[in-house]
Order: sequence, then C-alpha cells, then structure tokens
Amino acid sequence: MKSVRSVVNNANAKMITTKITAGFASKVGAILAVAGSAVGLGNVWRFPTETGSNGGAAFILIYVLFMLILGVPVMVTEFVIGRHGHKDVTHSFLSLSGGRGGWRWMGLLPVVAGFLVLSYYSVVAGWTLYYAFEAGLNGFAGKDAAQYAADFAAFSSHPVWPSVWMALTVTMTCAIVALGVRRGIERGAKIMMPLLFLFIVVLVCCSLTLPGADRGLTFLFRPDFSKVTGQTVLSAMGQAFFSLSVGLCCLCTYACYFRKDVDLMKDGLKVATIDTLVALLSGLIIFPAVYSVPGLQPDAGPSLVFITLPNVFQQVFSGVPLLAYIFSLFFYLLLVMAALTSSISMLEMAAAYFHEEWRVSRPKSAVGVSLVCLLLGTACSLSFGLLAEVKVFDMTIFDLFDFLVAKFLMPVGSLLMCLFVGWVVDKEIVRQEITNQGTLRSPFYSLWFFLVRYVAPLCILLIFANELGLFGFIQKP
Ligand code: PHE
Repeated sequence: MKSVRSVVNNANAKMITTKITAGFASKVGAILAVAGSAVGLGNVWRFPTETGSNGGAAFILIYVLFMLILGVPVMVTEFVIGRHGHKDVTHSFLSLSGGRGGWRWMGLLPVVAGFLVLSYYSVVAGWTLYYAFEAGLNGFAGKDAAQYAADFAAFSSHPVWPSVWMALTVTMTCAIVALGVRRGIERGAKIMMPLLFLFIVVLVCCSLTLPGADRGLTFLFRPDFSKVTGQTVLSAMGQAFFSLSVGLCCLCTYACYFRKDVDLMKDGLKVATIDTLVALLSGLIIFPAVYSVPGLQPDAGPSLVFITLPNVFQQVFSGVPLLAYIFSLFFYLLLVMAALTSSISMLEMAAAYFHEEWRVSRPKSAVGVSLVCLLLGTACSLSFGLLAEVKVFDMTIFDLFDFLVAKFLMPVGSLLMCLFVGWVVDKEIVRQEITNQGTLRSPFYSLWFFLVRYVAPLCILLIFANELGLFGFIQKP
C-alpha cells in the first residue's frame, strides 16, 4: 500500500517538475554512457599507479572489496535519486524529499564538483592528447630513459603548451556535450567504448607475450598482505570512489536520462564489472611491460604513464620499431578516449544544471561551463610550472583541486546520498525504483539497502574520523 508520504511526494514532484525531454535512446546506450564516465584516466592511469605504489595484488583485493560494499551501493543510490526525478538533480532531491530539509541544495553539488573535477582532469587529459600526437609522429623513437623524464618535465612545466592541449580536450568535450544526450553523449559512448575495448585487447595480447609477463602477473595477482598499511586501505577506498565516478551526483545526472525499464541494480553491477575489468586489463598491459625492462620498478608513481612507459615501449620492441610505434600510439589513443568519455560526464554535470534550471540552451550552457573550466584548468596546468610556488594549505592548485574532489566531495557526497536514500526518502519509493514498480525481483534489494543505510555511512565516517586524527588504528601516511 502506498504511504501518505509517498502520495504527497509524488504529487509534489508532479507540481514542481516538467519532465525532461532528453534521454538515452536505448538501455545499451545508457550502460555505455555510464561505463564511459566510470572508465577513464582513473582506470588506465590512476589504478596502475596506485597499485604500483601500494604493493600490487593486496591493494587490488581491498579495492574490489570497497567497490562491492561502497562503490556499487552508492552508485545504485545515485541511480535511484536521478531516475526518480527524471529531470535534473535539484528536482530529483526536491521531489524525493518533498521539499523538506534543504535537500534541494544537493542539486548544486554536481555544479561545483563539475567545475572542479573537469578543470584538473582536463590537464592530464591534455597531456595524454599531446602524448598520442607525439606517438603518432613517432616522437618517442631513439631516446634514452633520462630523456623521457626530461621531456616530460619540460612539457608539463611549459607556460603555454600544456594549456593549449588542455583547451583542445575541453573543446572536444564541449562539442560532444553541446550535441545533446542522444546525438552527443550516447553516440560518443557507443563509438568510443567499443574502440577502447579493442585497443585494450590488442595491447593486452602484445603485453602478455613479453619476457616480463610472468613477473607482471605475479605482481598483479599474488597478494602480499605484509605490504598492507592504513594508507593502502585509504587509497583503495579513494580509488573505488574515483573510478566509479560516485559521490558527485555525476551518475544522478546521467540517471535522469534513464528509461523507466532500466534495471538499476543490474546495470550498476554491470558498470562496476566493466570498470574493474578495464582497470585490471590496464594493469595487464602496463606491468608485464614494465617488468620486461631490467631495472625498472612498477612503483614509479604518477609519472609511470608519461615517463616510464614511453621508455618501456621503445626498449621492449627495440628490434621491431613498427611494433613500438603501434603499441605507443594505441596506448595513448586508449588514454585519450578513456579521458574523453569521462570528461564528457563531468561537463554534463554542470552544463545540465544551467540548461535545466536556468533555461540556457544546451550549447550555450556547455560553452559557458567550458570557458570557466578553461580558466581554472589553466591555473591547474600552470601549477606544474609558473605557479608551482603558489600553495594553499601546502598544496599546489592542481593538488588542491584533486584533494577537494577525491578526498572531500566524493566521500561527503556519498555519505549524504546514502543518508538521504537510507533514512530520509520513503522506503516504498526506493523499492519501487529498484524493482521498476514491482516488475523486477531484485534479489539483492535488502542487502543493498542494508549497505546503504548502515555499512557505507559508517565506513565513510570512520575513514573521515581517522583522517581528522580522532583515533589511530589506521596509521596516517
Ligand atoms: N571515473 C572517472 C575515471 O576513472 C573519473 C570521474 C570522476 C568521472 C568523477 C566523473 C566524475 O577516470
């Protein structure tokens, strides 16, 4: 039986919303678009870096655990919120809360987060585009290891070029978002995601035939728990949030465009599986290759992809320059596409708000947000060179943006969304969304609800308390 509250909420929702007209045309398109948001530099760049610096397989196991108990439940929570409102994030919170408790202000989260995240993400996306260009021109051939490091340092600290490449990626992103949900975002995902998989498969096959493949596999799949520290646990949680794009209402924004017959739980699991698979496959490309060059270690940190790998590709295939060329080109193109499908979702988060709330046309809204991101992004980019000395709380501008997004907004946003769906929203509405008005069985519903109501908020609070130094059972880095 419907509770009075749910009837009131529904009536409220009808009054305050004119339903959105844009939407994904197909279920496959919806999954690919969400997977496109999830699969990004987080998988191909951040995951191998984190795995490398945190000791390999043990980190991966903890990461997968966090995906299951935190990442996927929060993702489905975002789907519930977004699809119920079926318009934009503000309206979703407004209609689900019945206008109480100021929850509608959560609608601003994707706007703030969208600006912040796109601004610094597009800097790294710009580097990948430049590296793809260099690979295309065979610019990596015939250099020694020290030269790659010097080249990267010179490029990333240059006052102009990194910003130009960043501007190029923002422009491409903007063009796709301006085209609209179906013609831009969905079509872009339908073209780029299969290509991305093709590149990954080709690269994994090449990598597994290299002489260091067995050591790479051992590093990835044989856990050494003696290497696990509190820092490993924190990094694994951060990686799970970042990789699934949860906590910023980005997925809420996409879920507003879902059709009513999308199975939210199943699709959440599918996206998480695709995302984890791509991360693992990226590890399978990178670590065997790194171990194939004597003396190189997998813990090079963020420079792994931009300094270690170009060197690896040239050395490993030194006898066959054509293979070195193809491998590098495919790898950086893979990074570019992964970065683009994610940055599209970042721009959409903020652009959708101005389009829906302020009634600005979609192209104008996309261009406006992009221009602001270009300004902020230039500051982030310059923080590797001219503005390297500008520090806020002892962090460069780039690091500050990354900290605000990954360490603050993502966990806080996730916590608020779990509390909202677990404790504030009428349970009946939540069940109706998950079971598609009772037409699906959804065997994991109770488990999911339990995780959202108790486990996820508790985990996030504990980690926060630890960050604030309230207790010392997880040692700080
Ligand atoms: N999940 C994306 C990645 O792995 C990053 C992202 C974060 C995308 C937040 C959208 C929102 O690269």
